[in-house]
Amino acid sequence: MNWHHLCAAAKLSEGEPLGFRVGERRVALYKFGDDIFATDDVCSHAFALLSTGFLEGHVIECPLHGAMFDVRDGKCRSSAYKDIAAFKVEIRDGEVYVQLDGGAALEAAGESSAGVKL
Ligand code: FES
Repeated sequence: MNWHHLCAAAKLSEGEPLGFRVGERRVALYKFGDDIFATDDVCSHAFALLSTGFLEGHVIECPLHGAMFDVRDGKCRSSAYKDIAAFKVEIRDGEVYVQLDGGAALEAAGESSAGVKL
């Protein structure tokens, strides 16, 4: 399993996505109450950072052309664009870790959500 440390959980604010670069990959974190979710930060349509988009409920809207993705599972909810990856999240000692090879694993396991509770 390939876990990557991103930040302290206390750094996340309700309704304010936060983007991270992990090697070549970009990851966005989203906090809803005690739940934290992680997805690809780059839109599946073109290069736009979803963490700079508009969050309404659990749906993030791409700031460039408006594609909408559910941050709980990465599914595209608005158009014919491809889904984005959603990653497993763990909190250890108040620090947020994501499993970046978890997108495919989530699908294989039939899991509907990658989030974690604080
Ligand atoms: S770049 Fe996101 S919808 Fe076009």
